[in-house]
Amino acid sequence: LKPLNMPFVRPRLLCPGPTQTPQFIDEAGRRQIYHRTDEFRQLFCDLRQGLQRVLFAEELPVVLTSSGTGAMEAAIVNFIAPGTEVIVVDAGKFGERWAKIAKCYSLVVHVVHVPWGQAVTLGQLEEAVRAHPKARALLMQSGETSTGVYHDIATLIPGLKKKWQGIVIVDAISTLLAHELRQTECQLDVVIGASQKAFSCHTGLSWVSAASSLWQQASRPERPVFYFDLPREFEAQKEGRPSFTPGSSLVLEMLAALSHIRETGTDQMIRHHGALSRGVRQAFMAMGMEVLPATNPHHGLTVVKLPPEIPGGAFIKQLRQQYQLTVAGGQDAYKDKVFRFGHLGFNDPFDIVSGLQSCGLLLKTMGRSDLSLGSSVDAFWAQYAQA
Ligand SMILES: Cc1ncc(COP(=O)(O)O)c(C=O)c1O
Repeated sequence: LKPLNMPFVRPRLLCPGPTQTPQFIDEAGRRQIYHRTDEFRQLFCDLRQGLQRVLFAEELPVVLTSSGTGAMEAAIVNFIAPGTEVIVVDAGKFGERWAKIAKCYSLVVHVVHVPWGQAVTLGQLEEAVRAHPKARALLMQSGETSTGVYHDIATLIPGLKKKWQGIVIVDAISTLLAHELRQTECQLDVVIGASQKAFSCHTGLSWVSAASSLWQQASRPERPVFYFDLPREFEAQKEGRPSFTPGSSLVLEMLAALSHIRETGTDQMIRHHGALSRGVRQAFMAMGMEVLPATNPHHGLTVVKLPPEIPGGAFIKQLRQQYQLTVAGGQDAYKDKVFRFGHLGFNDPFDIVSGLQSCGLLLKTMGRSDLSLGSSVDAFWAQYAQA
């Protein structure tokens, strides 16, 4: 098969974030709106309520104008005092980020090292809190986007909390709506999310949803904080009055996304992501590819291992140049060895099939000439049809 030059192909974005933004979301955010008006205040309150419903949380979240990392930092700054011992689950790049932020704010960090491609176990968490009895908080992801692993927080945290009462802060940025998350039921003290993942909005809005007990705490950590002063924001946002100019167009986008989620149902969104994940894994396997991780796959992305003769960097570049398809590369240990195929957000399954076909066509031109595109599509639909 010769490399194709296809002028009529339209660009597709299948990364695990930012995700493809559908037209109705693009259009919703196109309006410029002044934030000191009754209309905006109502919209901002609606956004917080919509997020609270999606998170099954007891309190309204604080919405920040920042990417997800800003919300991670804000949670540490406002809820954990300098010098506090914390446990960090490091199962990849984003776990590593928790450790970096925690150290930056003078926390004493005990890392649970989980090999890339594996999920943390309850035994590992229990062992960590036993080994560090002074640890007062656990910082972890629900999904490690760098390795495509899902950490089953719905089982892990209630299990851990039977014997340990520390604060659990979960970066659920890439798993919200891809996996079930019920904040209060699962005893998650803080949950963090962002606009550019399964909500399919542009990047720039994030939120921190904290349990009532954290807002009631009389003593806040003694450290300077200005922009990310969460208790101040929690009060100000009750009236829909964020202290500073918010990302208003993102607020409008998020409201459109939440209304779509409400119509569809969060259960259906989660089933859709599960079915896409199973379908994409089977489709790549039908192409003769190895998919990672072997167990506990994140339903928002599939990590595909490339054979040694196909370097990841070249594959991703050609995918973009020839097929206008953008997927994500591997980092650190996975650099050049894998690509990360995202299926997070409001994806039409036919878009996913197109993405699979682009990967398959390119693999054919890069030495896998006997690969069957038909079998991979059949394998996808066999799984997706069960959604
Ligand atoms: C699990 C996870 N945490 C944190 C982040 C960082 O978020 P941001 O890039 O929005 O700051 C990402 C983004 O890719 C992520 O997937």
